[in-house]
Amino acid sequence: MKRWNVAITGFGAIGKSVAALLDQRRAHYQARYGADVRLVGVCGSRAGCFAPSGLVAWSEAQPWASQDGLTGPAFLDTVQPDVLIESGPTDYLTGGAGERYIRQALTSGIDVIAISKGALVRDYRGLRQLAETHGARLKISGATSAALPTIDLLQYNLTGCTVERVEGIVTETTNFILSRMMDGERFEDALASAQQHGIAEPDPRFDIEGWDSAIKITILANAAFDADVRLESVVREGIAAVTPAQIADWRARGLVPKLVACIDRMGDHYHASVRLKTYDSQDPFSQVRAGMKAIRVHTDAMGETLVISKNGPTGTAAAALKDLEHLLMQDQRTDAC
Ligand SMILES: NC(=O)c1ccc[n+]([C@@H]2O[C@H](COP(=O)([O-])OP(=O)(O)OC[C@H]3O[C@@H](n4cnc5c(N)ncnc54)[C@H](OP(=O)(O)O)[C@@H]3O)[C@@H](O)[C@H]2O)c1
Repeated sequence: MKRWNVAITGFGAIGKSVAALLDQRRAHYQARYGADVRLVGVCGSRAGCFAPSGLVAWSEAQPWASQDGLTGPAFLDTVQPDVLIESGPTDYLTGGAGERYIRQALTSGIDVIAISKGALVRDYRGLRQLAETHGARLKISGATSAALPTIDLLQYNLTGCTVERVEGIVTETTNFILSRMMDGERFEDALASAQQHGIAEPDPRFDIEGWDSAIKITILANAAFDADVRLESVVREGIAAVTPAQIADWRARGLVPKLVACIDRMGDHYHASVRLKTYDSQDPFSQVRAGMKAIRVHTDAMGETLVISKNGPTGTAAAALKDLEHLLMQDQRTDAC
């Protein structure tokens, strides 16, 4: 049975969720792929844990013994995993520690499953080239709307088609707030509810001003179409300026507002934007309520494809482990040849 050593950098809410789900699925990996997948190392900003034979299921009641300083470059040097799952903070300005982990791993030939988005939005093309040069693979489902299949849809399911347009409702906070406003709540109250539900951050500007959608659509455009879109060139709207009068007008006209991330094909290049748009009640996007995400793709030969997703707290972890399983699948096929 082939051994797969996995490490996680950034052991917060998502990292712990990945660890728990991976532990639950170990028997499945063995039975389906003949793969003995073990989580051998995790780290946070100040310390890390490493067990060459595998860390046994983590719990709040029985956390693993950690080693101070086992973080940063020393972590990957020590653990030397086969796969790195990067789930530290997203730093889209500098890339931060997440970018350093990803570059170090790819340079060492380690496959990377990125959940943080900073490195991907800054330099997806460079990272892909780095991976190719060193014989590593870079997977990004967890960073591109997670449980909503976006990158896989564009890269695999629509293969051979020319994609004319992509529209996505990809930010939970803005969809929640707009849905609540259409139900009669004021912007401030809807935002407070989003924060109480743990959907919006204490500082919600990142979502409200459209940055979250802009980051996701930039990564998608560059990964799916090699589009060379820069985040700063994405035309971006937010939802903070939506007024009660606009809401009343849309309601009277049977329209539903959504903050939508778009990619449009313009000849031989792609243009990305984030726009506040309205949809009539016959349009499926008008049914994408709070707690849901959606992507719609228009192609030349396969027409229109629409995916709507509603998922719980493990959605992001499951998306990252879908990437892991695709790596296992790919290796199984290679071994069979
Ligand atoms: N939450 C979601 O629903 C969601 C969905 C999709 C993608 N994401 C992405 O997933 C990532 C993690 O989100 P989260 O909600 O799990 O955040 P979180 O709970 O704040 O966890 C982040 C973790 O990263 C660690 N960290 C900070 N600096 C580090 C460093 N230099 N080296 C190693 N670890 C470091 C922190 O460790 P310390 O505790 O030691 O500071 C913390 O435990 C983010 O990039 C986010 O954008 C999240």
